[in-house]
Amino acid sequence: MLYCNNRSSVRDQATERRLAMLETVTNPELKTAARYTSPHVTGDRPAELRQILNPGVNLCLWQRPVQPEVTRELSGLRASHLPDVRCRTSPASFDDDVRTLLTQQGLDPVAYENWREDLRRLADLFFGVSGGRDVLLRLETTNDDGCRRFHVDRTHLRLLCTYRGPGTEWLTDRQVDRAAQAGGAPNECIIHFGEPSRFEPFWVGIMKGDAFPGNAGLGLVHRSPQIAGSGETRVLFCLDC
Ligand SMILES: [Fe+2]
Repeated sequence: MLYCNNRSSVRDQATERRLAMLETVTNPELKTAARYTSPHVTGDRPAELRQILNPGVNLCLWQRPVQPEVTRELSGLRASHLPDVRCRTSPASFDDDVRTLLTQQGLDPVAYENWREDLRRLADLFFGVSGGRDVLLRLETTNDDGCRRFHVDRTHLRLLCTYRGPGTEWLTDRQVDRAAQAGGAPNECIIHFGEPSRFEPFWVGIMKGDAFPGNAGLGLVHRSPQIAGSGETRVLFCLDC
């Protein structure tokens, strides 16, 4: 039987919450001061995503509004349409790669013009931080739970945008018991206190994984949201390098 040493029972939980709030930089007044010390950078401008290259940063989150024209285009997608289709991509081939993936799944790329334009924009932002590494493009529609256990990706960098349905759940570094995570403990032992944060639809996150130079053991801890049985279908875009 796994023993869960939940430190929230012995620590001052109010202090922990305050520190966690400082860690996720959502207050504009805090943003400038904490920009280079917080592992999690959030903001309403795409330029924030470039900070993922700063040492010690493991998440950059661009909080942007929903685009109704894209939502309309994606409203008819079912879980079976894009069952985790993927391919290698590059700045030169990206547009053709997306068209090919859609066509191969029996979808007409013309019907997804606004979505494809947005994917292109996000890809350009990612190519700008990928350092010339190979980039893997993934489109996915799913009604499964995916990876429900908190984990760290073995990638250098991963861009994630959930266009429909609930987004990725993640923990601030202060919430995480990394020894429990690495040791195979269940979720309730990995999270010290509070609830996970969650990407909202259309938000763009770039997460730093354990394979990024100098980031071993420091990657963002996250998991997929629970949706099985809810009747919802998530629509996901992912780029890895
Ligand atoms: Fe992951």
